[in-house]
Amino acid sequence: MKELEKEYIEIYGKKPSKIYFAPGRVNIIGEHIDYNGGLVLPCALSCGTYMLVSEREDDLVFFASTNFEYKDFVEIKNLKDSYDDWIKYPVGVIKQIRTKHTNLKGMNILYSGNIPNGAGLSSSASLEVVTAYAINDINKCSYSKIDLALLSQKAENENVGVNCGIMDQFAVAMGKQEKALLLNCDTLDYKEIDACLGDYKFVISNTNKSRKLVDSKYNERRAECDEALKIISTKKKISYLCELSSEDLTELKPIFTQENIWKRLSHVVEENERVISSSQALTSEDLPKLGALMNASHDSLRDKYEVTGLELDTLVEEARKIQGVLGSRMTGAGFGGCTVSIVHKDNIEEFIEKVGEQYYKKTNIKADFYIAEISDGVKQL
Ligand code: GLA
Repeated sequence: MKELEKEYIEIYGKKPSKIYFAPGRVNIIGEHIDYNGGLVLPCALSCGTYMLVSEREDDLVFFASTNFEYKDFVEIKNLKDSYDDWIKYPVGVIKQIRTKHTNLKGMNILYSGNIPNGAGLSSSASLEVVTAYAINDINKCSYSKIDLALLSQKAENENVGVNCGIMDQFAVAMGKQEKALLLNCDTLDYKEIDACLGDYKFVISNTNKSRKLVDSKYNERRAECDEALKIISTKKKISYLCELSSEDLTELKPIFTQENIWKRLSHVVEENERVISSSQALTSEDLPKLGALMNASHDSLRDKYEVTGLELDTLVEEARKIQGVLGSRMTGAGFGGCTVSIVHKDNIEEFIEKVGEQYYKKTNIKADFYIAEISDGVKQL
């Protein structure tokens, strides 16, 4: 923090008046479910984005980050339609808040993040939510944390062009230490579930594969789900695919002629049911059951939703060979990014060594490993 304050003073000539922090997140299970109105089970992490800030007298906002070279400033009353580079995320948030609060104060901002970039651990949601939280606090806008999550999601949808659901922003805003959030993405009702695993830990493995096409592929999957909904509407009135159960699937099978749309639909319905079983397994501390459900989730994301790929599949396959591993799956949007595994604490060292070695042999990429520390959501430090 001292280093960061020093850097802030170098850029802006005086100390920041406030410091905020928003975490990243890992999703235990319930993938590609949020935008289909179902249940997800994410946790906030201890890594995240720090935001050092002071108010200005005018309505200019200066952006700098220790993670990126690119710096810029904007005039709140005179924002352009689009912005370059990473600042489109915080500017998107300003645009959303500005629709209701026209007299926002100017700011000098320095961000610093320790979430690996593009790893599917929600570095963008973290950046959006920390910005929304700070602006809300500085301007006394009286948004709740859930409102801030919703407007951050809207910023990503409308100003960044990624049609994401609410899971990431919600987990980043509402996360609780040692708890997983069982979130209903339709109603936003949620329950905190103890995520202390006793002798086990959640280990995150990073493929370090660049996820170039992730946004367009993500939007493509969403469109396929909309297509499934359209086909179903000739038979049933539903608003979201997650209103269906696996029994409904049997009944609906004959009206699906396109194999890929059918596969997306069955993943969504079955994954939603796996989240219910997983939250019960976590509550009753039945970790082998949770592990088996995580394995089934990955297999379905590989075979039915088709969002994995060589790197994620290799990490998962190698993880499952290690003693003391109860389950392993990709987490986040997919196409690269990270996996999450439940590993016995005595086997973590062996896990990192062997999985890392085999992964390198098969992909020529070095993986990174982190032991997940489940922490609180956005806050002022
Ligand atoms: C990304 C999106 C989320 C969610 C996941 C997949 O992280 O931002 O809204 O859809 O992918 O579960």
